[in-house]
Amino acid sequence: MVELRYEFVPGNTDSGHHVGSYRRRLPVSLVRMYENALDWEHLPHLHESSFSDLELLDSGAWGWRAKVVDQRKGTDSIIELRLDRAARRWITRNLEGPAKGVEIWTHVFELTPQSLDIIVDFFVPDVDAAQRDKVGRAYARAYEVLYDEDVRMMTERQQQLDRRIDAVESADSLMLGAVDEITTPLTFSLSDRFFVLQKVDAEWVVYPQRCPHQLGPLALHPDTPGQVHCSWHGYRFDLQSGECLGSSNCRLGRRPQVQVQADQLTVHW
Ligand code: FES
Ligand SMILES: [Fe+2]
Repeated sequence: MVELRYEFVPGNTDSGHHVGSYRRRLPVSLVRMYENALDWEHLPHLHESSFSDLELLDSGAWGWRAKVVDQRKGTDSIIELRLDRAARRWITRNLEGPAKGVEIWTHVFELTPQSLDIIVDFFVPDVDAAQRDKVGRAYARAYEVLYDEDVRMMTERQQQLDRRIDAVESADSLMLGAVDEITTPLTFSLSDRFFVLQKVDAEWVVYPQRCPHQLGPLALHPDTPGQVHCSWHGYRFDLQSGECLGSSNCRLGRRPQVQVQADQLTVHW
């Protein structure tokens, strides 16, 4: 049994505002966890039910500060996250907006290289003593949903990183079968990389299975033909040019060609 010890910094928060905690064991490494805490970009995409829009104000190894818009409630907030690696914690503060003054402290305890415990403490000012448990439970429920989404992303990203390192297969072309027997979307690997074959309006389309940003899952954009998008941070790519349609300079890598001969479909470089 690991003893989970931590403390709050006197003067930084008022322990009288503590309304509750949330604890969870996560099957992820400390590297993935810190990466996730610093990753402001995923909030309005992976957590779209909790965050509508976000405008970054500042960021660095210390953390980030952003204006967060909640379109459903019609409110703006300024939120800041500060990471303190030495203390194994990050503090999220609401600097402006309806939740101004709320602080959320997350402490992390590494159990093995691939598992850790987190303890999240919620500090909310001006809550009646009789209401504290109820408010604390509401925060804990919201964090349960956020961490369900984050764990899926972190574990999938780790699997993709491991798979890249493990991949050894190599080939220049691959026959995928008779055109009228192929069910799409079809995932295949060629030269150690994974791609998806789709059929769009009688045309065969091939795109990488994983996003060049952080290996999130790519899919055809439902509304915009000729584009793929990623659900983790919302990047979109033009299939023709491979370019990212936004401010990022990442782009899709080389994609195999599709060839149909005698009703057999082959992909090749
Ligand atoms: S992994 Fe970040 S947008 Fe795809
Ligand atoms: Fe998250």
